[in-house]
Amino acid sequence: MSVVFSDQPQSQLPISSNRKIPPGPRGKPIIGNLHDFRKDILTTLESAAREYGEIVHFKVGPREIFLLNDPYYIQHVLQTNHHNYRKGWALVRTKILLGEGLLTSEGDFWLHQRRLIQPAFHRKRIAAFGQMMTDCTSEMMEAWQPYIESGQPLNLTEEMMNLTLNVVCQTLFSTHITDAERAVVKDAMEVVLLFGLKNVTRPPFMEKLPTLGNQQARKAIHQLDKIVYRIIQERRAHPQDDEKSDLFTMLMSVQDEDTGESMDDRQVRDEIMTLFLAGHETTANTLAWTFYLLSENPTMTDALWAELDRVLDGQVPAVENLSNLPYTQAVLQESMRLYPPAWVISRQAINDDEIGGYPIPMGSAVIVSPYVMHRNPNYWEKPEQFNPTRFLDDSRPWRPPFSYFPFGGGARQCIGMNFAMMEAQLILATVAQKYQLHLVPTTKVEPEALLTLRPRNGLPMTIEWR
Ligand code: HEM
Repeated sequence: MSVVFSDQPQSQLPISSNRKIPPGPRGKPIIGNLHDFRKDILTTLESAAREYGEIVHFKVGPREIFLLNDPYYIQHVLQTNHHNYRKGWALVRTKILLGEGLLTSEGDFWLHQRRLIQPAFHRKRIAAFGQMMTDCTSEMMEAWQPYIESGQPLNLTEEMMNLTLNVVCQTLFSTHITDAERAVVKDAMEVVLLFGLKNVTRPPFMEKLPTLGNQQARKAIHQLDKIVYRIIQERRAHPQDDEKSDLFTMLMSVQDEDTGESMDDRQVRDEIMTLFLAGHETTANTLAWTFYLLSENPTMTDALWAELDRVLDGQVPAVENLSNLPYTQAVLQESMRLYPPAWVISRQAINDDEIGGYPIPMGSAVIVSPYVMHRNPNYWEKPEQFNPTRFLDDSRPWRPPFSYFPFGGGARQCIGMNFAMMEAQLILATVAQKYQLHLVPTTKVEPEALLTLRPRNGLPMTIEWR
């Protein structure tokens, strides 16, 4: 869980008992709410929000944590007063892999990088990746044939993870990565992700101990570095070979408008690692949850098929079709409402602030949870129900902007939002057009809040032709 404390300068707010503190669950002496956070963070946050309202106070050890459940308070932290908030501690602990990439860097440096990289994610530029995305999907579907014939289930979470990993590899490196390297990247990423997750809940010195897990993580980072630096060197040596318009080429060629400088090797490496990490697990989980929700809701599946048949008429979907597939998009939006992959976003107050009449001391953690907000009955009627029509124009009531924010918001909103939506829509349309997926009966499906929100124990599903 993302908690924050540190060697920050002290808050100017009184720590005495007369400071106005928001309501919240009483924790245990010394450890505060730590046990609840560790046991079941999603239920802890959701029930605290329902019981205590728009702003909830937790203590985890000596650290103060404020959970915000009001769209305007969330907007205040992510957008209006975002200069007063830096990234939460959990993300800072991923710097060992991501360095000063977009996700983890701060201040002027981050802004400079964001401006350089933003154009690569323009809708028109990413449209060029559409065909590759559907090609990767068709390849996956061909490999499904034996499972269709035998009726054997496969783990859909893993399938989606492999698929989005292939897509991100192609997008970043095009053909410049061998199949063997791709397998190394996949395994190494898994090791590093586990390591990052462990780091979130242990003190910093522990990641430096010579334990087996730490050594494996270091080896994995070294393997990833080797591949990325090899590609950087090849491209620096033969820039004329760069006929491919992949993101790697783009990152190496962008130049600062004022100084004409481009990124050095280390920065290119950090940005590549960041896009790699941020760019596949989130989309994979969105798709996995979507196929699960569709398998539980046949009426919505029928509506999806009706749209796909009418618009695509059996053809493989292309980027140009997407604007004519509003229901397909709404299915994904509704899936991310119920199971937002980025289930929590955390920040640390740089200076004292005030939210909802309560003082927020400098250095304390402020967390906002799309998972909790998206299930808030004040903004979502029958919030537990899967109902894509909520997102269709003609039935959509007005809602404040930060009542729905699966991609975050404000200055640090996800740079890959259009990319992810395009990818998810194309993959969903390609698969659902041909197949129906069924959850193996008796499977207990529940979300597990790791770095992203995954189905605990995966999703065993069988596949049949429609
Ligand atoms: C369904 C898929 C995705 C979801 C739900 C998602 C969600 C998010 C969220 C919530 C943030 C903001 C974090 C914060 O404010 O602390 C974020 C940031 C980011 N995302 Fe995504 N993301 C997705 C896909 C992608 C993809 C496909 C890429 C790249 C190819 C990507 C790259 C990034 C980067 C680089 C940032 C940091 C942006 C910055 O701080 O300037 N994401 N994402």
